Amino acid sequence: MLAGGSLPAAKNGLVNNSPAPHEQRARIQSPPRVRVRPDRYSLSARAKAPSFPGIRKTTVFDTVAVLGATGAVGRIMLQLLEERELPVQNWRFLASARSAGKQLTFMGREFHIEELTTGSFAGVDLVLASTPDDVAREFLPAAVAAGATVIDESGYWRMNPEVALVIPEVNPEAALSARGMIASPNCSTTQMVMALKPLHDAARVRRVVVSTYQATSGAGLQGTEDLKAGSRAWLDGKDYRCEAFAHPIAFNAIPQIGSFRDEGYTSEELKMVYETRKILGDESILISPTCVRIPVANCHSECITVETERPVCPAEARELFAAFPGITVQDDAEAGLYPLPSLCDGRDEVFIGRIRRDLSHPNGLNFWCVSDNLRKGAATNAVQIAELLARHRAGQSAG
Ligand SMILES: NC(=O)c1ccc[n+]([C@@H]2O[C@H](COP(=O)([O-])OP(=O)(O)OC[C@H]3O[C@@H](n4cnc5c(N)ncnc54)[C@H](OP(=O)(O)O)[C@@H]3O)[C@@H](O)[C@H]2O)c1
Repeated sequence: MLAGGSLPAAKNGLVNNSPAPHEQRARIQSPPRVRVRPDRYSLSARAKAPSFPGIRKTTVFDTVAVLGATGAVGRIMLQLLEERELPVQNWRFLASARSAGKQLTFMGREFHIEELTTGSFAGVDLVLASTPDDVAREFLPAAVAAGATVIDESGYWRMNPEVALVIPEVNPEAALSARGMIASPNCSTTQMVMALKPLHDAARVRRVVVSTYQATSGAGLQGTEDLKAGSRAWLDGKDYRCEAFAHPIAFNAIPQIGSFRDEGYTSEELKMVYETRKILGDESILISPTCVRIPVANCHSECITVETERPVCPAEARELFAAFPGITVQDDAEAGLYPLPSLCDGRDEVFIGRIRRDLSHPNGLNFWCVSDNLRKGAATNAVQIAELLARHRAGQSAG
């Protein structure tokens, strides 16, 4: 097992059974260190639409705590929660002692950021958590013990057998039968599994070879700062010491994300192997990953080669991808149309292009896949899980 200690029993048993405009973004009122994304790419009209037309008037969650509200993922989470209008009565915002007492604006109201302690979760129904692994390890069991459902972005709990690992478009049932803790997958895993799922359902995926080209925002606010400050220093001929990366990221490519583990693979690469198998419920899928950090601000790109049990031609693959919720196909070689990180930034979908047969294998398919790691790779997925639980609970109380 890669990570994960033991969880206290969820107070509410099967947690989900207890009834329980992007532009108007949440602002943290100490100057943010970076602005991650250019606004002009932000938000399709679809993303602005409230996603709870049916149950908007019903409060499903009394109190929701956003833990890690000041971080790269947490800030996007706040934008999404404003846009999508989860039915919630009370909100609380938690972070470290560094942020405690600062104010943020959310849905037009001012809130104080609270310091996380083990006593923070009394009376909280749902925790949306995006902190470093060690914080998740130390504090989230207290949230479950206090009766909250936790949706965790960190890597710590994902492979724990008691924890559901969920992409709502792929394995929603796992969220609905979860006990206390639900993990959101690693960002590079999520977009790949979104792409694999329709192929797996149609033709059973046997083997995957994937190379990632990962954005600096994947390493949090400090990653983006290292890209910006490091690029400025490089252009000025000065030294800059990265804090989030082992080597300078400006004008560079670093074939190491996470720490080195078994057989020369990194922790990020092994996450792609084990998390994919857990989400798809298929331990037989063979995966050979290489994860690379590149000097792109936001959106991870992946070059994926898939071998299926029977051949899937590019035309069929295009149809399968296009029919899958959350995937947008951008694939017109003549028009020069394929997914670009700069254009996928701020979008909730997984984008796929360059779909072509693998010249080296009759059952092989190659494609290019790009997604906003802070959105579908993190915050969007977590909020979608919360929406899934809300719909389920609203359905139960209506029934
Ligand atoms: N970035 C991505 O693309 C991405 C994608 C998927 C998953 N994730 C995972 O999501 C988590 C957060 O990532 P991030 O990119 O948002 O990192 P980040 O920008 O560094 O933000 C970290 C957040 O955790 C809070 N925090 C740190 N130590 C804390 C403590 N002792 N007590 C309470 N809060 C604490 C920080 O609060 P302060 O501001 O007060 O320090 C901040 O809100 C990580 O586990 C990461 O692996 C990230």
